[in-house]
Amino acid sequence: MGVYEAEDDSKLLLNCAKEYLTKTNKEEQLDILEIGVGSGFVLSELAKEFPLHKYFGSDINKDALQSTKQLFQKNKQKVTLKQSNLFEKWKKNKFDLILFNTPYLPLEDEENFEELSMEDKALYGGKEGNEVTLDFLKALPSHLKEKGKTLIITSSLAKPERIEQRAKELLLETKIIKTSPSFFEEILCIDIKKTYLLEKLSKEKITEIDYFSKGKKSQVYKGKFHKKDIIIKLGKEDDLQVEKIFLKKLEHTKFTPKLIGKQYSGAILMSYVKGENIEQFLKNNTNKKEISQILNSCLAHCYTLDSLKITKKEMTNPYKHIIIDDKANVTFIDFERALYNDNPKNTRQFLQYLCRQSKNLQKKGIVLDTDKIREQAKAHKEKPQKIRLQTFLENKIT
Ligand SMILES: Nc1ncnc2c1ncn2[C@@H]1O[C@H](COP(=O)(O)OP(=O)(O)OP(=O)(O)O)[C@@H](O)[C@H]1O
Ligand SMILES: C[S@@+](CC[C@H](N)C(=O)[O-])C[C@H]1O[C@@H](n2cnc3c(N)ncnc32)[C@H](O)[C@@H]1O
Ligand SMILES: [Mg+2]
Repeated sequence: MGVYEAEDDSKLLLNCAKEYLTKTNKEEQLDILEIGVGSGFVLSELAKEFPLHKYFGSDINKDALQSTKQLFQKNKQKVTLKQSNLFEKWKKNKFDLILFNTPYLPLEDEENFEELSMEDKALYGGKEGNEVTLDFLKALPSHLKEKGKTLIITSSLAKPERIEQRAKELLLETKIIKTSPSFFEEILCIDIKKTYLLEKLSKEKITEIDYFSKGKKSQVYKGKFHKKDIIIKLGKEDDLQVEKIFLKKLEHTKFTPKLIGKQYSGAILMSYVKGENIEQFLKNNTNKKEISQILNSCLAHCYTLDSLKITKKEMTNPYKHIIIDDKANVTFIDFERALYNDNPKNTRQFLQYLCRQSKNLQKKGIVLDTDKIREQAKAHKEKPQKIRLQTFLENKIT
């Protein structure tokens, strides 16, 4: 009941898959998975023309599995079938070719996705039409072999540009390979594969890679390595090279992210620092003692950098680059502009930042003598020394 019968979109998927398999090495046996097999038409036709390969299929609709099973039996072909929402039941299995003729129609205003019948779940992809496809993409990298290929069918009605953008965020590469226009929509076949970087990261067992943030010069991704969160920062090789050198040099200080695993050109792999940045911390926190403790840690780290004759730069406005965790550890991030020099400026620059924060700190009951700060900054230029916040406090912090 409610099984999707082959339509033009099914034929488009079949043709794209045939074209791809015709070009692959004829001797090599591939593992081919179709998500959402429906009647079984696409997979069974492929099995007829390419009998060497191994075929796997799943659907949320158990009647679709029944129909696919019967079709394979009738054609005397072999297939492994599972009832599964997307990849859920495929656990750690990986495939050479993954196919999905996605449900792509946007829901009508009053419809609720959870309440759709199986018949409608074959057609509707969510509010925008692309939600099921976006969930599919998120899970795709861990089920696609390094050199694997994915072909999906979607439509101009399902905002395909959002699908392409999401794929990019997951380090996947997309190409629209075939379209079939009709008078009210255009059906598209999108070819998806891992980018070269994702191939390499997958090989190193780095999983769950997803876009995290963006700086002026770089894109930052988050992933997992041995169950721990890591950051993958992509950018210009020259900048990243500088950052790698300083992160290595500063590893012993424990106030910088740790370099992780193998390093690649164009990317830095480092530990993920959990916490809030100093701007959020100063905004959200009202505990004078805690604020004072954190500012003292910042001053101590600045002094360590000064002693090593490293200028980190950008310390006059380090709002994004100082991270504080829930155990009050303070980590400095982003060393791509750091350099060695005889007269390092970290403490002085941080003191400037403190002066600019003085009004905000006063509201929290931390009253700073800004003249004294400026004096200290000058003296520090002559003779670097360890400075504590207490030196400038006009009131006692209790
Ligand atoms: N190791 C890390 N742990 C947690 N978050 C990180 C880490 N590295 C980078 N980030 C996040 O990514 C953002 C951008 O990273 P980063 O500042 O290094 O990039 P950038 O291109 O050098 O930025 P900017 O334009 O500030 O120079 C940071 O503000 C931070 O939110
Ligand atoms: C458009 S039909 C395509 C059927 C068949 N592949 C074809 O091309 O004729 C979409 C199929 O995907 C299935 N489906 C929808 N959402 C799914 C999900 N989250 N996980 C697995 N299958 C799903 C539907 O039950 C339906 O059989
Ligand atoms: Mg930077």
